[in-house]
Amino acid sequence: MPAPLMSMSTFVEARNIPSHVAIIMDGNGRWAQQRGLPRVAGHREGSRAVRRMVRACRRLGVKALTLYAFSEQNWERPEIEVDALMELLREFLLSERDEILTSGIRFNAVGNLGRLPGIVRAVIEPLKHASRDNDAMTLTLALSYGGREEIAAVACELAKQVKDGTLDADDINAELMHSRMPSLTVGDPDLVIRTGGEQRISNFLLYGLAYAELFFSNALWPDFSEHDLHQAIASYQARERRYGLVGGDPRLLTIPPQSVRAS
Ligand code: IPE
Ligand code: IPE
Ligand code: MG
Repeated sequence: MPAPLMSMSTFVEARNIPSHVAIIMDGNGRWAQQRGLPRVAGHREGSRAVRRMVRACRRLGVKALTLYAFSEQNWERPEIEVDALMELLREFLLSERDEILTSGIRFNAVGNLGRLPGIVRAVIEPLKHASRDNDAMTLTLALSYGGREEIAAVACELAKQVKDGTLDADDINAELMHSRMPSLTVGDPDLVIRTGGEQRISNFLLYGLAYAELFFSNALWPDFSEHDLHQAIASYQARERRYGLVGGDPRLLTIPPQSVRAS
């Protein structure tokens, strides 16, 4: 039996690790503001936290880690911040390339990637290609990503197929839609963590969230530690996932309650 992992006082069971962890990495700007630094300093520190989390999830045996790095809505931020984020993204991918390849990580990116500047696309594609046969963990960056936009893109693709006669409209169902979502090729997220204290989804993975367990942390993303991750996973492990079914001990359900039998 795999050994449990201890992180200070947090107990993580090694046999019930969420297969797909997705993180809304929020709070970089506030981290910088609290220190009287420009927002970009928070993003730089945030990229160190990304490195930490990739390593920690890989060590825990998480099979898929999806990180919300830049939303479709984030394009509306001041140009200076957007440019800095793109530059940091490029630096991150270049600096992590070797470790991604040697630690068996498959790299992927989802979102409206055509909108990214050439300097970023130029590092994404080669890394995706070079890591395509790795299978220890899939690291997906959601870039220029929006959950509504992803659903709309799938709907558009299916509508075109109906129009050209390669798909019957009556065959469109939840499973077919699911199979076309680029963000869900690694399966639905089991655990979604949002840092930074806000309790909202901000247009992340909407289709796949149906039965995800949610964990909200007050830690600002640059401060999010391996111990915080273990706390999120320990919380996940203490929950009962019911998927609309009934919970508890199934043996208790074989005898109808007295009141029902009597009526
Ligand atoms: C998350 O941190 C990073 C991105 C959205 C790109 P923020 O930049 O949103 O930080 P806050 O929420 O302003 O503190
Ligand atoms: C969500 O954070 C997007 C990312 C973490 C990339 P935001 O800071 O953009 O979300 P809101 O504006 O607080 O909803
Ligand atoms: Mg934010």
